[in-house]
Amino acid sequence: PVAASLAASLVLAGCSAIPGSVTSVDEAEFTNELAIPPLAPSRMVDGTRVFSLVAQEGTTEFRPGVETRTWGYDGSYLGPTLRAERGERVAVEVTNNLDQPTSVHWHGMHLPAAMDGGPHQEFGPGDTWRPTWEIDQPAATLWYHPHPHGTTEEHVYRGLAGMFLLDDDASRAATLPDTYGVDDIPVVVQDKVLDQNGQLDLTDDGGEPGILGNVVMTNGTVGAYQDVTTERVRLRLLNGSTARTYQLGFEDRQMDLVATDGGLLEAPLRLDDIRLAPGERADVVVTMEPGETTRLHSAEPDLGSVAAPFAMGANDAFDVLELRAADELAPSPEPAWEESQHDRADEVREADATETRRFELDENSINGKKMDMGRIDEVAEVGSTEVWEVRSTVQIPHTFHVHDVQFRVLSIDGEPPPPELAGPKDTVYLESGRDYRLLMRFEDYTDPDMPYMYHCHMLKHEDGGMMGQFVVAEPGQEAGAPGGYGPDG
Ligand code: C2O
Ligand code: CU
Repeated sequence: PVAASLAASLVLAGCSAIPGSVTSVDEAEFTNELAIPPLAPSRMVDGTRVFSLVAQEGTTEFRPGVETRTWGYDGSYLGPTLRAERGERVAVEVTNNLDQPTSVHWHGMHLPAAMDGGPHQEFGPGDTWRPTWEIDQPAATLWYHPHPHGTTEEHVYRGLAGMFLLDDDASRAATLPDTYGVDDIPVVVQDKVLDQNGQLDLTDDGGEPGILGNVVMTNGTVGAYQDVTTERVRLRLLNGSTARTYQLGFEDRQMDLVATDGGLLEAPLRLDDIRLAPGERADVVVTMEPGETTRLHSAEPDLGSVAAPFAMGANDAFDVLELRAADELAPSPEPAWEESQHDRADEVREADATETRRFELDENSINGKKMDMGRIDEVAEVGSTEVWEVRSTVQIPHTFHVHDVQFRVLSIDGEPPPPELAGPKDTVYLESGRDYRLLMRFEDYTDPDMPYMYHCHMLKHEDGGMMGQFVVAEPGQEAGAPGGYGPDG
């Protein structure tokens, strides 16, 4: 059916109406103050930092006077920002007040598979799920979102997502803007289709790469502005969209990229803009003059070689967020840090790789297979270093995300990656027909029965089966049967 809709889309390439895509984003006025997700309260219980979240329904005023039915954690849209320190033990009590099962995945987090929040950890209406783990990775901008089997796109699109910030000694010692909500700003970029009644349109007309909206919002605010009171401001950019890829930057200045998915780069990187596919994050520092205004902008993303109809849906240029500098700005130092805590990643060397795996993404499957919760596709040995060779074989936008690890992009078609892809990553956009070699190590936490996921982070693709499962096992140990889904389960 996907091949058929692909063919249908190609036939439509010459027409202006492409199924599943909206070619232009409505121009916004930038008169609404940016909503800043509150920092989630936590309590200490026996040395564990305990958060709680409630997934619930509500309404959100995306457009003045129009109540849009949405979902959120502890509120009507998105969720609070969780924040924890490396070395801390955390627990999250998540209660499902929706009318259907959901799950909460900690995207980018290194943790035991049973705590990962993928499709094997769904919980039903009225239930509470209580994962707990130790934060054991460098400072980073991570996020959380539902991951229920086959309905992730809908759950995220309706509004379930939030940020999970990790700190460590290196990030505390760094001279980076770090006052949350003042000069350290979470920016969740998303697009939606709002119908005539102002409701979220989830109509799937078979288009690729999924729903592309005519309304762009940051933290749920359409046409948002943020008052800036310091010379520099750090934007923690997260592409929380289900399908759209952005090319984010400023038309009148450069910015400093300081961190990617898994944390700090080796040094700040001056950039015009950065491509951000669904699931990817980029922390950028922007410098402003007193009294001026500028706008975060999305240019047409360079998607590589993609078939015309898909590119048309994604190609669009629009403003995303306005920054308004006060007449007097408090001084901020140049972004700088001694060394990031990527000890784990730094020790991981290609020469130590004992396994190379290959993953080919086509229209609707990975290595010709669709997701099967009862099938474990790959078994990785604990402590081992591996190279994953990933390639999109078709001209459809795909991104590749691996749970549990932060990887390094070793090469793209044999060449070193561009510098913005050289830092720690857990999600990478796959330009069609190119070979991405990813280096990763499976540090600890074995469980032959409980898989982690790897998948396309275009959520329609993920729901459609472009996902596989791997377990981390002791040497010689074979894959078991994922809880309740084994051959006999
Ligand atoms: Cu952001 Cu498998 O997910
Ligand atoms: Cu895909």
